[in-house]
Amino acid sequence: MENNILNAVSYSKKHKDDFVESLKDFLRIQTISSDSNFKNELEKGAKWLSDYLQSLGASDVQILKTSRHPVVYGHINQAGPEKPTVLIYGHYDVQPPDPIAEWEHDPFEPIVKKNVIYARGSSDMKGQIMVALAAIQSILSFGPLPVNLKFFFEGEEEIGSPSIRPLLEKYKDLLNSDFVLNLDAGMIAKDRPTIVYGLRGLAYFEITIIGPAHDLHSGMFGGVVFNPIHALCKLIAGMKDGSGQILLPGFYDDVMPLGESERVSLNELDNPDSFYIEQTGAKEIFGEAGFSNVERLGARPTLDVNGIWGGYTGEGPKTVIPAKAFAKLSMRLVPHQTPGKVYEQLSQYLQDNAPQQISWDLKQLASDPACITEMDFYATHCFSQSLERIWGKKPVFKREGGSIPIVSHFQTILGIESVLSGFSIPEDRVHSPNEHFNLDLFVLGIETVIDFFYRVSLEC
Ligand code: BES
Ligand code: MN
Repeated sequence: MENNILNAVSYSKKHKDDFVESLKDFLRIQTISSDSNFKNELEKGAKWLSDYLQSLGASDVQILKTSRHPVVYGHINQAGPEKPTVLIYGHYDVQPPDPIAEWEHDPFEPIVKKNVIYARGSSDMKGQIMVALAAIQSILSFGPLPVNLKFFFEGEEEIGSPSIRPLLEKYKDLLNSDFVLNLDAGMIAKDRPTIVYGLRGLAYFEITIIGPAHDLHSGMFGGVVFNPIHALCKLIAGMKDGSGQILLPGFYDDVMPLGESERVSLNELDNPDSFYIEQTGAKEIFGEAGFSNVERLGARPTLDVNGIWGGYTGEGPKTVIPAKAFAKLSMRLVPHQTPGKVYEQLSQYLQDNAPQQISWDLKQLASDPACITEMDFYATHCFSQSLERIWGKKPVFKREGGSIPIVSHFQTILGIESVLSGFSIPEDRVHSPNEHFNLDLFVLGIETVIDFFYRVSLEC
């Protein structure tokens, strides 16, 4: 085994530049899942991956249609039926690059500077997909894979995977595997390899406040109608108190307090306020009173306004009372909270508090429950050993604040557990302008995955 690992690692080091070139090609495809104008680009992204799988010699490569964006499937069975089958998960869709003016380079023309690659999706998560593909290619360069592989690459993760549940139901047998390797969860710092065992869920809404039938002159009608932007701001302001508590009735009812031992182990990973101030550029830290930062991020729910618009926002003054006002709003959820219940709570709040002079409409745009993965799982132990071997130190176990909807769907629909890790770090600016991925971590990531495939084939 040691020799095979050495061979594969040396191949991966020799071919690093080729892997980076392939990653650049992948990053040039503008796979923005939220924007329907980019539907063709998503198809190109799926085609690029299916071609890559084919070039690796994968069998039964298919582009599976969904009601939104396609899934790419394929498999490589070389290890024999007694060896585990690993489902390699990835999402090839990316967040919109906005605000584009804030980018130093074109978000879809990747550029490498000081061994860091800059482009939308470089860290989240095309770079992580390339880590897995490069590890596989490096092993295949001289011999068979020690585990059987299935591939599942979706194009909807960044919009909440709206059409993935029926697809998993339909292809349950095809996708059946021993576990999922999911490199979309990242690490807490460059020198702190990380295994993630909890993700928050997400309930995402769009609220529309409807005022007068059309925009009005604010002099001729100002004083006799309720401005819908005012109504919206009042409603939003009432959703939280000054200490960060969310005021929707019943919102905390299902939130479980952390057990003492988990609280202690999580808090060993806490960073001081200065870390978050440096990462965010905010003037001060603000969060729910009575909790540490790591608890607020991983084990407490949140409510945030993601966007708000209405009226006139162009250059110069326009004296108008708008007909409508809009906001996008979302809650990060923790285990036992359900997106459906949160919808009821928000809608009750609007019913109880909206001024009678306006009407409102509430749409749910994404709903994804939180999840906890099994820590005492052989594949997680093996991944942990590989991280330790490559980094020279034991990984930390962390609950993350972000969401990956498919992880709980894999648990409930397919009955398979995920190993959650990855090589993206907090300063990579994911979802922000100038997203980047550190190529030192790309290389270490490839070595880790190579090591893992051999180790897990022997149940380590
Ligand atoms: N890679 C992230 C999720 C993530 C971020 C996990 C940080 C662990 C740590 C993923 O691509 C993502 O951004 N997911 C969305 C999902 C949502 C649209 C349902 C998220 O968390 O906003
Ligand atoms: Mn993301």
